[in-house]
Amino acid sequence: CREFHAVVLGAGGVGKSCLTAQFVHQEWIENYDPTIEDTYRTQLTVDGRQVMLEILDTAGADQFVAMRDLYMKTGQGFLLVFSITSRSSFDELVSLREDIIRIKDDENIPIVIVGNKADLVDQRQVDRARAFAISQQWQAPYYESSARTRTNVDEVFIDLCRQMLRR
Ligand code: GTP
Ligand code: MG
Repeated sequence: CREFHAVVLGAGGVGKSCLTAQFVHQEWIENYDPTIEDTYRTQLTVDGRQVMLEILDTAGADQFVAMRDLYMKTGQGFLLVFSITSRSSFDELVSLREDIIRIKDDENIPIVIVGNKADLVDQRQVDRARAFAISQQWQAPYYESSARTRTNVDEVFIDLCRQMLRR
């Protein structure tokens, strides 16, 4: 059984904790309770292989930005999460990715780009095409997810595990 450290990063309120809670516990959290730092462990099977996944759910709020270097050092794979309803949360991914690549000193570090809150279609601020273009440029897969409807929740974590297994 291989063990991997995944880190969930992105702006405050985009749904990092809800995605993680849906993946690990199959539960939906309606209330917003900003995270400081939470760790989850879960075992899963990816392409017939057993994986022990440790998931670090991080704080989006700026006051905890100093902790990011440490997260990035220990992480082996990263979910970069934005909300499709927030253009600024999408723009934040650029510097997050730059920091990851600098700290890991690795251009090919496993990353999955996640446009969450896909259920809120009428509040969309980020075109699918724009997000897809960035994902092509970064050579990282792009998924639109909804923690609320549990759409593409398992898929993003499994894709990340698959990338980590390939290394
Ligand atoms: P920080 O811990 O502050 O960085 O925020 P976060 O990214 O962990 O966000 P969190 O998961 O706590 O979700 C913030 C709010 O958005 C909560 O009220 C959730 O119910 C809501 N939310 C999260 N995901 C979705 C989603 O896919 N769709 C909808 N409609 N709401 C969502
Ligand atoms: Mg959170």
